[in-house]
Amino acid sequence: MFAVQIDRHGGPELLTVRDVAPPTPKLGEVLVRTVASTLNPVDWKTRVWDVGPAFPMTLGWDIAGIVIASRTPDFAIGDRVVAMSAQVATGLGTWAELVALPARLVSHAPVSVPLTEAAALPLAGVTAFQALARLNLAQGERLLVTGAVGAVGRTAVALAAHGGAVADGLVSREEHLQPARSLGLQHASASIADLKGESYDAIFDTAGVDVSHALASGGRYVSVADEPLPSIPGAQKSYVQENREHLAELVRLVDADVLRPHIAHYFSVHQVRAAHELFEKGGLTGKVGLCF
Ligand SMILES: NC(=O)c1ccc[n+]([C@@H]2O[C@H](COP(=O)([O-])OP(=O)(O)OC[C@H]3O[C@@H](n4cnc5c(N)ncnc54)[C@H](OP(=O)(O)O)[C@@H]3O)[C@@H](O)[C@H]2O)c1
Repeated sequence: MFAVQIDRHGGPELLTVRDVAPPTPKLGEVLVRTVASTLNPVDWKTRVWDVGPAFPMTLGWDIAGIVIASRTPDFAIGDRVVAMSAQVATGLGTWAELVALPARLVSHAPVSVPLTEAAALPLAGVTAFQALARLNLAQGERLLVTGAVGAVGRTAVALAAHGGAVADGLVSREEHLQPARSLGLQHASASIADLKGESYDAIFDTAGVDVSHALASGGRYVSVADEPLPSIPGAQKSYVQENREHLAELVRLVDADVLRPHIAHYFSVHQVRAAHELFEKGGLTGKVGLCF
């Protein structure tokens, strides 16, 4: 079988599609034939930065695919599944034809969308779900989401609106205002200077920008970005944790038409270098998918 691997850290040219030995599922695991994955910022960061498991390293966190062997009662051959493998911590890269995954990482896939779309859900979805939970939003509260058309941002907007909050969004550029409005934001802005001071009950930062002036006194602030937090009392970072119950809840919300995974560009896995190049340029309004 083939896998996308790197042998050292660096540019997209280091991404190599090569033959590797297929994995054998252990007790409690499923063997998944990968149908699709998507690119997340952690994938290029792991490629470039000095992080991740030993070389040769198979990259990839998201997976949507079909179970072809099962050593757990939770899944049967033929099941359509999604998972977030947490590659950096577990060493389980999903950019491979076959991936053995412990059942604790795996959820049944949504039935209402193809696996090629469901692949956009795991990492970005669980990140948004867990960070938003920290904000504990009440019905009618005002939320600002930065990076609102990004993968985590758009999921946060949909989840917050579903919970009854009123979400506004900050985007990186004027061309993203229209796509942002189509997410159901009450107001979208492309400039930090346009944000009214002390006007939000909560802020969810996915873009690593300091928008603390827009937070009302006593408001809550959560960030998933790498940048340091602004100095506001109680501001917190959220780091995604593998959790199949959270993933299953996101799947349920996709099937309930609350969430719609959005992939704007598809590449064959054999074009993974081009996929990385496009993704790293930024400016996209949907995810980059890899088809196997
Ligand atoms: N802590 C965790 O556990 C965790 C988990 C997942 C992701 N993350 C991190 O969360 C961040 C977002 O992830 P993602 O998957 O949503 O990435 P993404 O899809 O690339 O979205 C990021 C969005 O932020 C926008 N942006 C960048 N600078 C901005 C600015 N100054 N003002 C407004 N918007 C701006 C980007 O626009 P342009 O493309 O136009 O620049 C893009 O739309 C990444 O840094 C990622 O590494 C952390």
